Amino acid sequence: MASRLGISRTAVWKCLKQLEELGYAFERRKGAGYRLMFTPDRLYPWEIERFLETACIGRELVYRDSVDSTNALAFRLALEGCKEGTCVVAESQVAGRGRLERQWHSPHGKNLYVSVVLRPQVSPARIYPLSFISSLAAFDTLKAAGVEPRLKWPNDVLVNGRKICGTLIELSVEADTVRFAIIGIGLNINMKRIDMDPALRERATSLLVETKNFFERPRICGILLGSLEKYYETARQKGMEEMGRLWEERAGVKGAYMEIRQMNRVYRGISEGIDRDGAMLLNENGVVTRVIAGDVVV
Ligand code: BTN
Repeated sequence: MASRLGISRTAVWKCLKQLEELGYAFERRKGAGYRLMFTPDRLYPWEIERFLETACIGRELVYRDSVDSTNALAFRLALEGCKEGTCVVAESQVAGRGRLERQWHSPHGKNLYVSVVLRPQVSPARIYPLSFISSLAAFDTLKAAGVEPRLKWPNDVLVNGRKICGTLIELSVEADTVRFAIIGIGLNINMKRIDMDPALRERATSLLVETKNFFERPRICGILLGSLEKYYETARQKGMEEMGRLWEERAGVKGAYMEIRQMNRVYRGISEGIDRDGAMLLNENGVVTRVIAGDVVV
C-alpha cells in the first residue's frame, strides 16, 4: 500500500488508525499487510461516492453525524455560494423539517436525510413543478430497491398505503429570480416500527419493514442522487412543466376522486391532473379549481 500510494508505512498506519476511529476494522498481518474486516453502516461521502454516477449532484458531499436539519445547513451553504449539486447528508437531525411546519422524526443511522442545492435558471412563477423531481427520484429508487411505490400529491411516496418518503423544497427568491432551491428528501430505510414516531407508526413504513431486509444506505443514496440528476436534466432540457407531466403519469391521478385539506377548507372533486405550473386541477361539480398546497385525505 505504501509503495503504491507513494507514502511511508507510518502514513498508511496513521490513515488506518483514523479509519478505525470512524468504525472500520482491519486485520493486521505482519509482513502481509492489512485486510478490511468491517465497514460501518455510515453515510460517509467516500461510501456514497462508490455508487455515484452523476456529473453534478453529490459531487460535493457534506456529511454530519448530527445536524439541526440538512435543509437548513444546505440553505446556509447555498447562501455562502456553494456549488450547484452540493449535498448535505446526515445520520440524524435534531430539528428535521416537514411540510406545513411539521417536524420530521429523524433517528440516528437508520434512514436517509439528504438535501441538495440546485440553482435552476427559471423564474419563481415557473419553479413549482421542480418540487416533483424529488418524489419522482424517490419513486424510481424505491422501485430499484424492489418495492412498489405510489405517489401521493404533492410530494409524498407511499408503499402499501404507508408513507416511506417525504420531500421538502425550500427556495431563496430575489425579485424575479430564483437564487437557489433546496430539495430535501427523507427516505425511511432501515427503521423498525419501534424506531418510528409513535404518533405516526400506523401511517409510516420503511424498506426494512416492507421487505424484512437491511439496505446499504450509501447505495440507496447513490441511486437517489443519480435519479435526481436525471430528472433535473430532463427539466432543464424540456422545461419544468415536464416534471408535472411525468408526476401525473406515474401517479395516475387523472380521473380519481380526491379530497384535499387546507387549513380552512377541504376541496373535493375529480382530478383533471397537474397544470403547467404544477397545481392540482380539481373539478368540483363542474367548477375547476387550481389547488397548490394541502394534504390529500382521500
Ligand atoms: C414532509 O413529508 O413533510 C417532508 C419531509 C421532508 C424531510 C426531509 S429529511 C431531509 C430534509 N431535511 C429536513 O429538515 N427536511 C427534509
